[in-house]
Amino acid sequence: MQIERLTPNIGAMVHGVNLAICSDAEFEAVYQAWYQNGVIFLPDQKMTPEEHLKIASRFGELAPVHPFFPNVKEAPQVSVIETVRGKAPLESFWHTDLTWQKRPSKASLLHAQHLPEVGGDTIWCSMRAVFNALSEEDKSSIRQLKTMHSLHAFENIKTDEINADWHKDVIKTAAANPPVEHPMVTKLPETGEEILFINEQFTRFVISLNNTKSRALLDRLFALARQAEYQVRFKWQPNTLAIWDNRSTQHYAVIDYGDEPRKLHRVTVY
Ligand code: SIN
Repeated sequence: MQIERLTPNIGAMVHGVNLAICSDAEFEAVYQAWYQNGVIFLPDQKMTPEEHLKIASRFGELAPVHPFFPNVKEAPQVSVIETVRGKAPLESFWHTDLTWQKRPSKASLLHAQHLPEVGGDTIWCSMRAVFNALSEEDKSSIRQLKTMHSLHAFENIKTDEINADWHKDVIKTAAANPPVEHPMVTKLPETGEEILFINEQFTRFVISLNNTKSRALLDRLFALARQAEYQVRFKWQPNTLAIWDNRSTQHYAVIDYGDEPRKLHRVTVY
């Protein structure tokens, strides 16, 4: 097995291992590459949805069926992220999966099924590197802060008649999931490293700061996270599996491919 780092701050390719049949020792090396690099990419991972779930369950406890993403009928914990002809995605947001829930998720495993000829990349940002880039003064002032996360950001999504039903499901889920508090700085359990645990889509405000100060602080931190130095951009190939750490990264799907068909399967674990 070979691990090829893609940038100094985030992302690595993992070559020469088949996750569906790997040994415990190989899995341990993959697991270490995952938390050390924030996101890993494994090419040529042919797998069924059931194998996808089995691989994911080695990383953590499988999240229940997603409340509003479509899913694979015979394996509903596998969400389907799909663009079909006539339904180009209209907006994309930097986010970290499921932080609107009380129990934030640990990892997501995204398996490419089919892709546009060009475009449709995904970008990840290391929130560990962003925290490390802050001044000591900033670090110590935000260590004590908490933020509120919620699904409400979706309410502003541009929608049209085509996805109106899906949008209604999102609103229903948001109503059933009141906003939750999370610390602004968390620690990666494996290493004790500090992480700036905020994301553009679901982190709504900083508790204990007034609206103006909260918005200004979040905007300043999000602007830092948008710097290319903390990011890796990945061009998908069919059967590549990306595994990212939701405790230490945000990600962004680039929607530059119109309505060209694009389909990926996602499993998330706690
Ligand atoms: C996701 O946000 O989980 C999917 C990212 C993508 O479609 O590239």
